[in-house]
Amino acid sequence: MKNIVILISGRGSNMQALLAAKLEGHIAAVISNKSDAHGLLFAQQHGIATAVVSHTNYPERERFDAALAEVIDSFAPDFVILAGFMRILTPDFVAHYQGRLINIHPSLLPAYTGLHTHARALADGVKIHGCTVHFVTADLDHGPVIIQVAIAVLPDDTEHTLSARILHEEHRIYPQAVRWLCSGQVKLDANGKVISQCHNLPAQALISPALDLP
Ligand code: GRF
Repeated sequence: MKNIVILISGRGSNMQALLAAKLEGHIAAVISNKSDAHGLLFAQQHGIATAVVSHTNYPERERFDAALAEVIDSFAPDFVILAGFMRILTPDFVAHYQGRLINIHPSLLPAYTGLHTHARALADGVKIHGCTVHFVTADLDHGPVIIQVAIAVLPDDTEHTLSARILHEEHRIYPQAVRWLCSGQVKLDANGKVISQCHNLPAQALISPALDLP
């Protein structure tokens, strides 16, 4: 069984979705850079080991990442899952976990990297928005894509309603992506390309607004 370490910074709803999914993998630990991260309590209540590595104790990013990696590696993870972990990681850290480190981002990457993705999508008036699970590379929010969900942006959507619908989808795709990783159906090759044995592709396009019926 694969060993999994989850990194969070706050609410931890994606972490909860991963726990609820009863993966064929052992969640060895949940680690946060913030001691008041809500998700830590949830993990503890579910009998999962937790640890805090506070970035405030490390003025230099490299030293924080080294300390974090030491704690992560003490749990001997096969995979490290970023679930709302709000720190930019150094190239050395990312290289150390190459092919074993994934993230979920609330946009259809490569659109809307960074923060405030839903507000920016609404401001741009896009009709389709979504979320992405990807391997992490040194290029922030640009790693090779594992799975994406697209949904329609509704005319009366607010940042709140849009983010709630996307979050619901995040909770569906993240456990799937981790399952594929654990089973070996998805991996990163030496050239940084995703190798996937998941060939069940949807036949229908998402068109928004929908076409008029003939
Ligand atoms: C999610 O929207 C995720 O895509 C982004 O940060 C948010 C974390 O939410 N990276 P939660 O802590 O999992 O509830």
